Parts: sequence; C-alpha cells; structure tokens
Amino acid sequence: MKDKEELINEIRELKRRSKTVILAHNYQRDEVQEIADYTGDSLGLSRTATEMDTDTIIFCGVYFMAETAYILNPHKKILIPEPRAGCPLADMITIDQLLKLKSEHLKVPVVCYVNSTAEIKAESDICCTSSNAVSVVNSLDEGEIIFIPDKNLGSYVESKTSKKMILWPGYCPTHQDITADQIRALKKEYPDAVFIAHPECETDVLDLADEITSTSGMYKFAKKTSSNTIIIGSEIGMRYRLEKENPDKLILFPSKGTICPNMKLTTLEKVYRSLNEEVYEVSIDEGIRARAESAVRKMINIS
Ligand code: 13P
Repeated sequence: MKDKEELINEIRELKRRSKTVILAHNYQRDEVQEIADYTGDSLGLSRTATEMDTDTIIFCGVYFMAETAYILNPHKKILIPEPRAGCPLADMITIDQLLKLKSEHLKVPVVCYVNSTAEIKAESDICCTSSNAVSVVNSLDEGEIIFIPDKNLGSYVESKTSKKMILWPGYCPTHQDITADQIRALKKEYPDAVFIAHPECETDVLDLADEITSTSGMYKFAKKTSSNTIIIGSEIGMRYRLEKENPDKLILFPSKGTICPNMKLTTLEKVYRSLNEEVYEVSIDEGIRARAESAVRKMINIS
C-alpha cells in the first residue's frame, strides 16, 4: 500500500504525462483538493470545464457535477473516480414528477438548480447554481417560476426577487441538518463572529446570516471580513482552504457532523486508479445531453 506522499507524487506525475486536468469541488477531502488543478463551486467548475485545453478531465465531486462537465464538453473524456457519489437532493425529483408539475402550470418557465440529473436539466428552461440563482430568476420575463428541486434555495430566491415561485419540496440533507439553535449557541459563545450561510440552509438559519453565498463566495467573504471568527453554515470540507487562506481567523462549524458522505467517497487511491485506468467515463444519451446543454449554456451566458 502506497503512503499518502507517494500517492500524491505519482498522481502529479501521471497527470503531467497524460495531460489530464483534475477539477475538485470545495467539499472534497483535503488531500484531493491538494492534488486538484482547480477547486471551486458548481458555477466555477462548470465554467472551468469549458475553458480547459485538454482531452481528459477527472472530476472529483458528485455525479451531477461530472455530468454537467460532460454536458458542456461531449468531445472530451470526463472521468469520475467514484461513480456512486450521488446527490440525494438531485434524486428528490423524478422526470415523471417534473412532467406532471409542468402540465399543472403550463407556460410557466422551469428554473432548475444544477444539483439535478441530466434528464431533469433537459426538461428545464434554464439552470442556476447557488451563486447565480437570483440573477437567473431575474433574467426571466415571467412573474411566476417553477423552481426545482431545492425548496430552501427557491424560497431564498423568492425573498430576493418579486417573482412568485412554485417550489418543489427537495432539500440537501447535509444543509438541512444545520439548525438555528446551533447557530444561536455559537453566536452567544463568540459574539463577534460573523455567520456565512449556504442558501441550501433552511430559512430560519438564513435569517441569522451576515452573508448568504455559494461555497466559493464564502472564501471571498472570509478574506475580506474584519471579524476574526467565522461560523460556516456549510460542509466541513470548506475548512481546508478557509484555514489555509485565513491563518489568523478562527473557523467554526455548527457541528462535526456537517458532512456530505457522497463528497467524501472520492479518495486519493480512487483518483490514482482513475488516472491510471481511465475510469469511470461519464456519458449521456445525446438527445438528453443536447437539451440539457441549452439550459446550462443559458445560465452560463447570463452570469
Ligand atoms: P456550490 O455551488 O455553492 O459549491 O454548492 C454546491 C452544493 O452542492 C452545495 O451543497
């Protein structure tokens, strides 16, 4: 069994020789973030995937993220080291449920959070991420919007726009576990702390936030805030870069259990295997991919 340093060196060497780029989401394990060429939020990763001058991309994240990279780059080889890394939120709406919802609200546009399957994206008018959801919804002329599948992000967007949102009751189990009581207790203990929340948190948690933003938005806010104590309402993978970039600040999480188990399925060993054996290749039926691409590109073009 190779030790961690050996594995990191071999991954770097293989990556260089095969001209492969490794993209990793901000929730990945520390050591996976360390070997990545680019780490980011969903929007940043989607954009970067289109800008990479390489034939092969290894995507360390959950499946819908690798799928989005493929949707935008069907001629590139998109590999995911752990294809079982799913997203429970993405699985909370099925295509039949979406078709039924659309038939009940004819002519109402569908805005779909990127945390969704390719099939759901293909049936949507436009996608959004946590960093551009408000601008995406505001870009539409209609006053009524179907927003799927995250009810928390949807109601946050509704509070920031004049639109009437038809919400779907999906949620991210990891963010849903963060409670307002946990945040109030931390704020009591650290009265000078600022609280940055991800918009996947519930409304009563968001009501306590000094800033509501995507994972990459959190890095920016953490750097610029004058407060030395920062409470993060998101997944603990955020700690790695936040502590590296803000060595003098105290970074707190509501609980040790704020973990996305799917994001943690990707390990250095699996990244090594992915590079070495070119597994696991992401592929989507072309009819679905092309329609999903239209929804994703519309989003990229407005943000
Ligand atoms: P970001 O786009 O903010 O990184 O969010 C992705 C996600 O799935 C959060 O749970």
